Amino acid sequence: MGTRDLEGKVAVVTGGTSGIGLRSVELFVERGAQVVVGDIAADAGKLLEERFDGKVGFQTTDVTDPEAIESLVALATTRYGKLDVMFNNAGAVGDPSTIAELTADGFDGVVALLARSVFLGHKFAIRTFLAQGTPGTIVSTASVAGLEGGWLPVGYAASKAAVMSIVRQTVAEYGAQGIRSNAIAPGVILTPFVSAALGVPGDYADDFTRYVEDEKVFATLGRPGLPEDVAEVAAFLASDASRFVNGVSLPVDGGATAITHNQFGPALYAAAQRFVESKSGATETTTA
Ligand SMILES: NC(=O)c1ccc[n+]([C@@H]2O[C@H](COP(=O)([O-])OP(=O)(O)OC[C@H]3O[C@@H](n4cnc5c(N)ncnc54)[C@H](O)[C@@H]3O)[C@@H](O)[C@H]2O)c1
Repeated sequence: MGTRDLEGKVAVVTGGTSGIGLRSVELFVERGAQVVVGDIAADAGKLLEERFDGKVGFQTTDVTDPEAIESLVALATTRYGKLDVMFNNAGAVGDPSTIAELTADGFDGVVALLARSVFLGHKFAIRTFLAQGTPGTIVSTASVAGLEGGWLPVGYAASKAAVMSIVRQTVAEYGAQGIRSNAIAPGVILTPFVSAALGVPGDYADDFTRYVEDEKVFATLGRPGLPEDVAEVAAFLASDASRFVNGVSLPVDGGATAITHNQFGPALYAAAQRFVESKSGATETTTA
């Protein structure tokens, strides 16, 4: 939208080499920020660093490793002098097992990737804000799966609900010091994550995006969600324009959670139609 409302800010973005994270990095830089990106995808990270020459620093980071997150947050200060924005975004679906099949280790693995990483992102960012004496803001990518059942497996869903809880607890513990924390709860956003979750091979990810757009399979807003849709909200929450927004988990789902997946409506209407037809048949018989 042509604004420079992140001018002079220093941000850390995890999972910044693909999908929502990548589009957010592009937007943050476009709006004036310097960005440190952490991701397991080392080659893509190095390319990103070269592409933004000086505006983006990359460090190979596995967010399931606490020391790696601490070191990533520290890089913002050593490289760009401070930290203003922490964007906890890295993630994957994790173990797809149902509740009866999921092992304790499988559950722990997803929680480490999606919830513990967000706790640690908060921990090290808040320590940095307190040490530098200027409050910053934290944005975390949750999911509609943390709001409603049935979107994705239990480890994923429980972890995303935990993200929303960490956000609220941050307000309770640090809000008075001016530190903000908010989450975004995306619906279906066409990224490699969605292709993988649906079993579409990575090579077909772009074709698949075009296919679902052509087929118009999304009822809400008549189109699928795109990384851009979430990145715009991340940029808003990272900026001072959202200065009085704190502790919220904002659905960015085109309205999907507002209509309970729209699953019950059509089934109920069809049943009502069958019911009325059966009664009118009965009425006609009685009248005759
Ligand atoms: N796409 C959707 O429909 C959707 C919906 C709701 C929430 N989300 C969430 O959005 C976030 C971003 O996902 P996306 O859709 O952009 O997917 P994506 O696959 O395009 O990007 C995810 C990024 O995270 C990185 N990553 C994965 N595991 C990592 C690890 N252990 N350490 C560091 N980096 C790691 C990947 O390398 C990749 O760059 C995730 O937290 C995901 O759960 C996505």
